[in-house]
Amino acid sequence: MRVLVTGGAGYIGSVLVRILLERGYRVRCLDRFFFGFDPVRDVEDDVNFEVVKGDVRFVDGSVMDGVDAVFDLAALSNDPTGELDPEKTMEINYRGRVRVARLARKHGVERYVLASSCSVYGFQDGLLREDSEVNPLTTYARANVLAEREVLPLSDGRFTVTVLRQATVYGFSYRMRFDLAVNGMVRGFFKNGRVPILRDGTQWRPFVHVRDTSRAFVKVLEAERELVDGQVFNVGSNEQNYQIFRLAETIADAIGLPFEYEWYGFPDHRSYRVCFDKIAGTLGFKPEYDVRRGAREVYDALKDGRLDPDDPRTITVKWYKHLLEMREFLKEIELDGVLL
Ligand SMILES: NC(=O)c1ccc[n+]([C@@H]2O[C@H](COP(=O)([O-])OP(=O)(O)OC[C@H]3O[C@@H](n4cnc5c(N)ncnc54)[C@H](O)[C@@H]3O)[C@@H](O)[C@H]2O)c1
Repeated sequence: MRVLVTGGAGYIGSVLVRILLERGYRVRCLDRFFFGFDPVRDVEDDVNFEVVKGDVRFVDGSVMDGVDAVFDLAALSNDPTGELDPEKTMEINYRGRVRVARLARKHGVERYVLASSCSVYGFQDGLLREDSEVNPLTTYARANVLAEREVLPLSDGRFTVTVLRQATVYGFSYRMRFDLAVNGMVRGFFKNGRVPILRDGTQWRPFVHVRDTSRAFVKVLEAERELVDGQVFNVGSNEQNYQIFRLAETIADAIGLPFEYEWYGFPDHRSYRVCFDKIAGTLGFKPEYDVRRGAREVYDALKDGRLDPDDPRTITVKWYKHLLEMREFLKEIELDGVLL
């Protein structure tokens, strides 16, 4: 069975493609490689792995040839990046994903899984379930909601669509992200001996490890069609809803250093807790990792040099900003006829 993973060289994608390969799937990775090729370099020679360098907005339908399932992860992947150029965010995260889903259906692909986010719930009281009202507060979250609404009705007897609303992810990846709460806290601790905490620390957020969310995609792929057809699942676990201050304490304790911290930002009143009963009950999904283990894993990788805390590509919004500036710069020098 061949799985097309869009965004396969990203933070989640680069872990997911390895899990698929380990389980014997053939994998085709479609990516613009905005963060470079390194995240998939060491699987490049695997006979079951193929790379297509392309853009979900324009790629030719032949990318679906021989594909049985699509995991659609390509996106500008967080709120601040989504605001750099809201129109591009809509083009990629909304219309690009709908395009991929339609191409998949047209080419006889059987399953399509959309990588959505719990951020669609916005910030609300109570425990949010898949049928709770959505409340998208940013371009990124709005694009997710629009994509979900347009891909779900594409489900028919042959084509199975599933939406995974992932909690905030953490843990080691081959394209590392230190702009995610747990990873950023560990990095701060490693660099300065203090955990950075966004004020005022009482806000709730749900978390899931990168290998666990990857396993959720595989669970959906391997589940009976009736269980996942046209379904939305929150991906995470009830125990990993954390208040941010408590999260920081947990991380310090797991690493085994005195709990020193520093505040940053304005008081963040954006708070939400998510219920993960549906994925546990329907698919038997249970995370193998918790925040303590994930934090230690990232800390160890920083300590032994497998992760560089100052790699500019690890702060997603900064890196995209840099790419946009470079594009402008290249346009300028091209116009002036100085270079290129
Ligand atoms: N990481 C999280 O905490 C989290 C939480 C919820 C949902 N998600 C969603 O999961 C998916 C993957 O997230 P991630 O953390 O791996 O992000 P990421 O930024 O690390 O990876 C996204 C990948 O998509 C590629 N890409 C971007 N635009 C593209 C385009 N137009 N065509 C082809 N490739 C393109 C990038 O080069 C990158 O490799 C995203 O859809 C994201 O919104 C992530």
